[in-house]
Amino acid sequence: MKVDLSARLANRLAAAPVVPLIGENDAPRAVKTARALGEGGLSVIEVVMRSDDAQKGMEAILAETEGLIVGAGTVLTLDQAKSVVASGAEFIVSPGLVDEIALYCLDENIPFYPGTMTAGEVQRAYALGLREVKFFPASLAGGVPMLKAFSSVFREMRFMPTGGVSAANLADFLALPSVLACGGSWLTPGEAVANGDYAQITNHAREAVAIAQSAR
Ligand code: 3PG
Repeated sequence: MKVDLSARLANRLAAAPVVPLIGENDAPRAVKTARALGEGGLSVIEVVMRSDDAQKGMEAILAETEGLIVGAGTVLTLDQAKSVVASGAEFIVSPGLVDEIALYCLDENIPFYPGTMTAGEVQRAYALGLREVKFFPASLAGGVPMLKAFSSVFREMRFMPTGGVSAANLADFLALPSVLACGGSWLTPGEAVANGDYAQITNHAREAVAIAQSAR
């Protein structure tokens, strides 16, 4: 029987509603970063496909870690979506809404979070059958007030604000009932990854978990 990825993901995000991004090109460093995040209590991880080696990093995380749910972000085309799923990606995130990726993911029961930032995009996602979307770039797209406005009209939609989220505003986003989880790269600063300062990454994860617990 096919594992219900959506249910697994929903349970994890209910416990710790924060999705850290990994943008590291070097596979061994990507694996260590993922482990450091898991140690800090964040077990749903988005590996962004922004370099030729990113997919290899995601595959290494899937092969060498346990207990994490690993998805692919910055997925731009249907072919790329199929390729990352073949590599084991358990969810897909895109900066924008592409219908053919949405329909493929709905068909295959793969959680898909396309970026939306206008009422038209949220409504299109709703019409396609999606009930969860990314809100991107969250701070530039109007932040908490915009999400409140969306939530009053799209009552069934859940949002994942990403883009400009940090420890400073995480609680404000998570206080909204329509926010499923927040995503972001603030948990994995490039400098910490480059310097092998994985303790710092674990600390960022722990801090985010603590903020999430007090906000909900
Ligand atoms: C994304 O891909 O969702 C964003 O680039 C993440 O934004 P951030 O770097 O501001 O967290």
